Amino acid sequence: MLYRALIGKKLTPEQIAYFSDPDWIRANACHIYKDKVNILAELTVTIDGVEQPVVIKWFGWRNRISRWLSPVMRSRAKKSWDASYSLLKCGVKVPEPITVYTRRRFGFIQRNFLLTEKVENYTLARRLLRDPDEPEKRKELIVAGIADMIRKIHQASMVHHDLTPGNFLVNNNDPQNIIIVDLNRLENRVFIRRSLKMYDIAKLNLCDCNLGREHSGCRWILFLKCYAEKEFAPNRIALQTALSRRKIKRRIKAMHKPKKSNKSGKSE
Ligand SMILES: Nc1ncnc2c1ncn2[C@@H]1O[C@H](COP(=O)(O)OP(=O)(O)OP(=O)(O)O)[C@@H](O)[C@H]1O
Ligand SMILES: [Mg+2]
Ligand SMILES: [Zn+2]
Repeated sequence: MLYRALIGKKLTPEQIAYFSDPDWIRANACHIYKDKVNILAELTVTIDGVEQPVVIKWFGWRNRISRWLSPVMRSRAKKSWDASYSLLKCGVKVPEPITVYTRRRFGFIQRNFLLTEKVENYTLARRLLRDPDEPEKRKELIVAGIADMIRKIHQASMVHHDLTPGNFLVNNNDPQNIIIVDLNRLENRVFIRRSLKMYDIAKLNLCDCNLGREHSGCRWILFLKCYAEKEFAPNRIALQTALSRRKIKRRIKAMHKPKKSNKSGKSE
């Protein structure tokens, strides 16, 4: 009834037990990037006799439905593992996957985590693109690099489904050396319609204009030219629609979001 699957480099039973335990990860991490539902942390780990820094993504549950559906689903760690290889195959850089582990009980996923190489010396595209001190030329190179990656992903009939600028790690010495992370929502399709491609892209939030007005230095325009010069005109129309849809979705989400409680713990 207990089913354990480990793919990739071998871990000892102790390591598996430690990496399955969120409290152990929190207590032993060299650095925690994020601890909200999922835990993203840097650990120093000995694998095949070699001590190395790795990044663990320990997957938590966002809602009950995914937990109940888990017997018929791949774990999110395994989805990320598969996605990493699909992307590497089409020339898109991702952190090198090391090991993936899923433990099920009666089919239900109990624990799942992914170990990847630690990407060194990077800054998130989100931070660089927002930084007023960052030279415009460098920002343009980053936008062009991201466009190039997304073109490859879409050309290979894949949709990422979470293309936020916080998921692109830009090398500090070379802005064209970009790595994409957060791959568990990646989906393989037989065919992707233009509208879906643009909806995927719209999450990048590259320019406040939302393509609603003409202005110089528009990052959406630059993106579309680098993404597919020949398809620029129809893509622009489709992206404008996608940006409006995203905006409406954000508003609806904000309306349904529970109000943040104040210091006394009561709702405002
Ligand atoms: N291999 C890595 N090396 C270095 N830093 C990483 C690596 N993987 C992730 N990070 C850092 O951790 C942050 C969060 O990672 P990721 O986007 O995968 O998690 P997430 O946003 O919590 O995922 P989800 O959207 O599924 O909840 C990244 O923005 C990046 O700063
Ligand atoms: Mg992310
Ligand atoms: Zn603009």
